[in-house]
Amino acid sequence: MKIGIGNDHTGIEMKNEIKAYVEEMGYEVVNYGTDVHESCNYPEYGEKVARAVAAKEVDLGILICGTGLGISLAANKVKGIRAAVCSEPYTARLSRQHNNANIIAFGARVVGIEMAKMIVKEWLDAEFMGGRHQDRVDMIMAIEDRNDA
Ligand code: RB5
Repeated sequence: MKIGIGNDHTGIEMKNEIKAYVEEMGYEVVNYGTDVHESCNYPEYGEKVARAVAAKEVDLGILICGTGLGISLAANKVKGIRAAVCSEPYTARLSRQHNNANIIAFGARVVGIEMAKMIVKEWLDAEFMGGRHQDRVDMIMAIEDRNDA
C-alpha cells in the first residue's frame, strides 16, 4: 500500500520522522514536500496529496501543518477526499472505521512526535466498518455531487 505525505514549513521534521515510521511499518511512502524551511502556503501541499489520493496514485494520505487545520481544509476541497484532523489516537481510529477518512492530518505545533506516531498507527491499522457507516459516508459524498449540479 502506498501512502502520500505532505506538509508545510512547520511540519518538515515531523514529516521525516513519520515517513520513516510508516516505512518501518512496511508501507511505501511518497513525499510531496515541502522540504524547504522557508515559510510556504499549506494549501499547495494539501491539494497535492489530496489530488494524488483522488487519482489513486497513492492509497491514503498524511498531511501536517502547524495545526493540521489549514492543510486539511484545502485537501477537503478536492472531490473524493475525506481528510480528518486528529490530535489523539481514538479519533484517528474512528475516522477510518466510521468515516473512511482517506487522509489524516495533524498539527506539528499541537502534538508531539510520539502522539503523532500513535495517531498514524491507529489510523493505518483500522479498517472501514461499512454498513450504516457506508450510508453516512455516501451522504457526505452526495453533497459534493449536489455542488456540481
Ligand atoms: C503557518 O504559520 C500556519 O498557519 C499553518 O502551519 C497551519 O497551522 C494552518 O492551518
